[in-house]
Amino acid sequence: MPILNTILELIGETPVVRINHLDTGPCELFIKLESQNPGGSIKDRIGLKMIEDAEAAGRIRPGSTLVEGTAGNTGLGLALVAAQKGYRLILVIPDKMSREKISNLKAMGAEVVLTRSDVAKGHPDYYQDLAKRLASEMDDAYFINQFGNPANPRAHEEVTGPEIWRQMDGDLDAIVLGVGSSGTVTGLSRYFAQHAPELELVLADPEGSILAEYINEGTLSTKSSSWLVEGIGEDFLPTISDFTRVSKAYAISDAESFKVGRELLTREGILGGSSTGTLLAAALKYCREQTEPRRVLTFCCDTGNRYLSKMYNDFWMRDQGFLEVTSH
Ligand SMILES: Cc1ncc(COP(=O)(O)O)c(C=O)c1O
Repeated sequence: MPILNTILELIGETPVVRINHLDTGPCELFIKLESQNPGGSIKDRIGLKMIEDAEAAGRIRPGSTLVEGTAGNTGLGLALVAAQKGYRLILVIPDKMSREKISNLKAMGAEVVLTRSDVAKGHPDYYQDLAKRLASEMDDAYFINQFGNPANPRAHEEVTGPEIWRQMDGDLDAIVLGVGSSGTVTGLSRYFAQHAPELELVLADPEGSILAEYINEGTLSTKSSSWLVEGIGEDFLPTISDFTRVSKAYAISDAESFKVGRELLTREGILGGSSTGTLLAAALKYCREQTEPRRVLTFCCDTGNRYLSKMYNDFWMRDQGFLEVTSH
């Protein structure tokens, strides 16, 4: 590999690995390791794209302040890019988020504003509303807004989609994926509508999210319940979302997500985050239901290093009731 000029050149071109030791029925299953991005998740792609898009539109220049409401991988992706390009980054974070995540973001140079976790969308202290207001009250500040920013799906339409199609040599029947902001599903839908309209998109959703029912039955519930898997699942439809090409959805429990995620590590040697378990569980169900051989791709969206004290910790798993207590 040649010497790179900046860490940002390592974003994207993530490897695809075949699943060898799990039951995939008549299908071949592959997993794309977004955990290999330098910030450890798929969100590095949109961190770069949303900032470069704002630069190209003349909305920001080095020294400007970027503001976003997130405690998750998007914050880490933005922090990575902002530091390299010379932007100040303010992240508004609900106070229930783990100290580890907050420390990680601060260590990367982001400024953190903590806000209440017990308020919903529309309340002035809700983390996204507060981020938007802070940006509007500051000079030379830009609200990133991943849930409504068209550069988010464009990153996947222009980069992730073509990358997958090239890596799979144009031979792929289905992609099983999750939805957080919906940038990935919307962008890939647009790319494959043009380049492989017969390719099936299948949703992996945590139980409790409203999306699986919306895809399978067409009904949009106003009631969601909580789930422990991080980064995916919704209680509203993001403005950038386009689910028209998603053919079916699987709702996966936390227990199954964690179990399958842990199997991915022991059987295939891949350390994925909690949502990777959800996506892989749905992908395995989809594969086993097929009657003809198909080539299927799913994602490892973030690194399991972020979950060592949770799904990879037997004590935590037992406390949550996800592991049997064995007596010796
Ligand atoms: C941890 C994680 N983040 C983000 C995403 C994709 O999110 P988005 O819908 O924001 O593109 C996924 C999808 O599986 C995920 O697992």
